[in-house]
Amino acid sequence: LGTLMLAEAAPKILVHGHRGARAMRPENTIAAFEYAIKAGADFLELDLAVTKDGVLVVSHDPQLNPKICKAPEGETAIHKLTLAQVRQWDCGTLKNPEFATQQPVPGEKIPTFDEVLALSSQGKFSYNVEMKSDPKKTELSVEPAEFAKLVAAAIHKHKLENRVVVQSFDFRTLVELRKIAPKIRISALYFGPAKSFVEISKEAANAEIVAPYLSLAKPEAVREAHAAGLQVVPWTANKPEIWDTLIAAGVDAIITDDPAALIEHLQAK
Ligand code: G3P
Ligand code: CA
Repeated sequence: LGTLMLAEAAPKILVHGHRGARAMRPENTIAAFEYAIKAGADFLELDLAVTKDGVLVVSHDPQLNPKICKAPEGETAIHKLTLAQVRQWDCGTLKNPEFATQQPVPGEKIPTFDEVLALSSQGKFSYNVEMKSDPKKTELSVEPAEFAKLVAAAIHKHKLENRVVVQSFDFRTLVELRKIAPKIRISALYFGPAKSFVEISKEAANAEIVAPYLSLAKPEAVREAHAAGLQVVPWTANKPEIWDTLIAAGVDAIITDDPAALIEHLQAK
């Protein structure tokens, strides 16, 4: 090669579609996940809750969010409703005012986790599955061990251990999952205050990934994490200038509400 210098290829930034593609389709619906798959997202991010009859369903909120779904009068907590009752909710018609670009999809219901995992045949993407559990509460609607058992069983049923990361703010759920499914990768969600990502990983069953709120993903913190063999996956970034700041900080992936726009942004680089 003589004196010819070869430019080092920049590491690929993986794209996680937050709640599928919340900027474009009603969040956490099949339509949002199919949008993200077609856009080419590397991961589908989704949130889990458990119904009264023990079914994992995909919802960010543990109870009805009247800005997201329309429901009959009555009980609104998912863990106090059966799957059949939760399925009566209309989660495709209301337009989230936060996202002018979101298109309603009439007929969309809360999907089961099983239905979303069945989309795996549509491509080579992976899943970033959040076990929604409040780390500050001692009385939970579903105990961490039970939650972990349901999640591990669903992933095992679809043989998706290699295509799933499980994340949570509630490290109790991650510790339980690690005990019963040690091969599933774990991601420690973290909101703050600023703290070593290596410490956070240790507290979360030695999570392979740390997922900090985006402003905590500073270059030095990312370098220290990488030196310890960890990955850093911040959330939730929707603006090109923030994407560029995170990329410059060295993050491994970005969680965004608009995966198609982030993919286009990365391709233009
Ligand atoms: O994936 C990270 C992000 O989803 C955590 O926040 O509230 O959108 O679930 P939230
Ligand atoms: Ca989430």
